[in-house]
Amino acid sequence: MFKVLSVSRFSVIDRLHAEAVILDAQFPALSRDKFQFGTVIPLAGQSLGSPFTPSVEAIALTSQLRATHLHQPHWTTYDIPGSGVKAGNWFDCDVEPGAVKAVGRFLGFQDPDAFCFGRGLSDNLALLLTGFYRPKLDTHNKIAFLGNEFGSDQQVFASVVRNKQQTFADAGLPAKPETDLLLKLKADSQGIYSEDDICAAIKANAKDIAVIVLSEIVFNTGQRLNIQKIMDGIKDVVRENNIIVGLDLAHVVGNRPTHLEAYGVHFAVGCSYKFTSQDAGNPFGWYIRPDITAADASFLQGWKAIQSDKAFGTISSMAEPQNLHQNGAKLARISNPAPQSIVGEQVFMDHLVNKVGIEAYVAQSERLTTFLLQGLKALLGDRLQLITPEEPERRGATLCFKIDGVDVGKLEHFLKDHHGIEVDTRPPVMRVMAHGLYNTFHDVSRLLTGIFDFLAANNL
Ligand SMILES: Cc1ncc(COP(=O)(O)O)c(C=O)c1O
Repeated sequence: MFKVLSVSRFSVIDRLHAEAVILDAQFPALSRDKFQFGTVIPLAGQSLGSPFTPSVEAIALTSQLRATHLHQPHWTTYDIPGSGVKAGNWFDCDVEPGAVKAVGRFLGFQDPDAFCFGRGLSDNLALLLTGFYRPKLDTHNKIAFLGNEFGSDQQVFASVVRNKQQTFADAGLPAKPETDLLLKLKADSQGIYSEDDICAAIKANAKDIAVIVLSEIVFNTGQRLNIQKIMDGIKDVVRENNIIVGLDLAHVVGNRPTHLEAYGVHFAVGCSYKFTSQDAGNPFGWYIRPDITAADASFLQGWKAIQSDKAFGTISSMAEPQNLHQNGAKLARISNPAPQSIVGEQVFMDHLVNKVGIEAYVAQSERLTTFLLQGLKALLGDRLQLITPEEPERRGATLCFKIDGVDVGKLEHFLKDHHGIEVDTRPPVMRVMAHGLYNTFHDVSRLLTGIFDFLAANNL
């Protein structure tokens, strides 16, 4: 039997359905027809998303170039039909100008020297930190990061500081425990960070810190940190202490545009398989502030760090230093990414930025997120324990929450099996995201109906 409260839940669900119909008519999904869906609709935030057809086609076309043009594609570029992206020049496909420009508009930088496509997020984090983290013996030898940061990032921080233990051994010092070299910035009991507290902790420990790595949108709470406020708050200590600041943009790329140049951070890394619908392991790329030179860091390099027009002239020897790239992201190039591994991301970013437009995307994403948030509140009332901050500027499109008395793991399976909706749970937390390019208001009302049915079926 339903509880008395359920009577009002019925009317809430009816109202939400009706609103979804109106909203879908008024604000139709921006690019739903370009995504491929099976029987389950993703509302999953951090998961892989559905294939984006223009990316799938561009990957196939890029593979075909070898068949039709043999060696020729090494030197020439070919239009990917309908996109501002060219493929085929394998030696410089990672800095394809149209695609770098599109990414620059989303990430907030203009200088093409600042970005290269390629490699996984952890690869880039490890490689860039290996270059930037140059610990001193007594001071400036810690990496500071969000205390609840994604485990893979924490693994990278630990392995980078282990890797530099030789610095201390060379000085005849005992090995430093990792815990002495890693500084965790604290969140509150819900995992939410205060920008003021982060600034205070950095100022208090400035003499110890070599590198700071922050996530702009935090994976387990959906909180968006005000990076500008943090950078403004710490700019003096960062300058005085030569501290390097980097950003993990895993949950920003394809979610919310950002402003790297304005922030003034030294580097950033990102991920292509969350909100830009690429396959797991497909690269995004890395950003290095274009005024950074080889003297500022010790990056590992391969032949791709050689200026492209000089690389083949020195194929049997090592490049002279003057023939290496002198600044920005190309300082950290090592090998060739497969063109097929990055062209899908390039075409996605071109679509998002140049075809749909960043403003239109954000507006639609906000409408969907607001509808989701209001629907959850109306349906769940006091049982909803929202973790993500509500204000649009303090979050992206991901909402993280708990439901009092509900096993969200079981709810996740119920939603998939009975309502064809996929969410993401890390019990006791559920994470949901309505994507501004492919989800509809109807998808959101299906999710809410599924939650309603689960509560009713379990007499909750
Ligand atoms: C915040 C964050 N950092 C790092 C990673 C790892 O990314 P990759 O597998 O590309 O190294 C993820 C993946 O989910 C992530 O969410």
